[in-house]
Amino acid sequence: MHDQALTVALPKGRLGDQVLQLLNAAGMDCDFAAEKSRKLILANEENSLRFFLAKPSDVPTYVEYGAADLGFVGKDTLLEDNRSLYEVADLGIGRCRMCVCGPGSLQGHLDELRNKRVATKYPHIARQYFETVKRESVEIIKLNGSVELAPLVGLADVIVDIVESGRTLRENNLEVLETVADISARMVVNRVSMRMKAAAIRPLIDQVRQVINQRETETKA
Ligand code: PRP
Repeated sequence: MHDQALTVALPKGRLGDQVLQLLNAAGMDCDFAAEKSRKLILANEENSLRFFLAKPSDVPTYVEYGAADLGFVGKDTLLEDNRSLYEVADLGIGRCRMCVCGPGSLQGHLDELRNKRVATKYPHIARQYFETVKRESVEIIKLNGSVELAPLVGLADVIVDIVESGRTLRENNLEVLETVADISARMVVNRVSMRMKAAAIRPLIDQVRQVINQRETETKA
């Protein structure tokens, strides 16, 4: 066994629970995390692993600065934050889509609407999509949640947001107008740790990739 201790940043909440399941399957014994305590740092001395739970949108920050050697986070957060990290595995969990959504009346007519107002929790992704990909100038309105409300009350014409089951859209008479990106959870590694702690990190990446491949094979079978 190598003697390099690793610190792992996990996202709090539903995605975090799914990541812990995957890490357990990869042999990292994270059972202790199932206890519903309010402790923020959890250690697995035997495997020289230390885990901490962070707000999902803060995970890339901890990893970029090296406060965590590696972390697990949604691609939405990575696209929005655009930090300097290595993205080493697509976990295939937390799958959803980043979409432009709005009223059905805009279906097929989105490009005709000039000077759109776009509400979103993801201003960078929205700007990148409209201004760089579609070469269109838009007004971005940053919100912190319940973004679907914006077109309903006249704050914005459309939204850029996550669509998972589509239920929130359906129940508010909104539709997907365009898909911006496919989203899923990713494993990310600090650039310095990748070199300095390679002996500990590389086997971990391999174990995680093995579990992902195994799960994909089982799904296809
Ligand atoms: C997310 C997202 C959508 C909804 C999509 O919001 O921003 O609103 O889930 O899921 P669905 O397609 O399965 O309905 P979240 O629950 O994180 O709450 P928030 O809008 O307050 O951020």
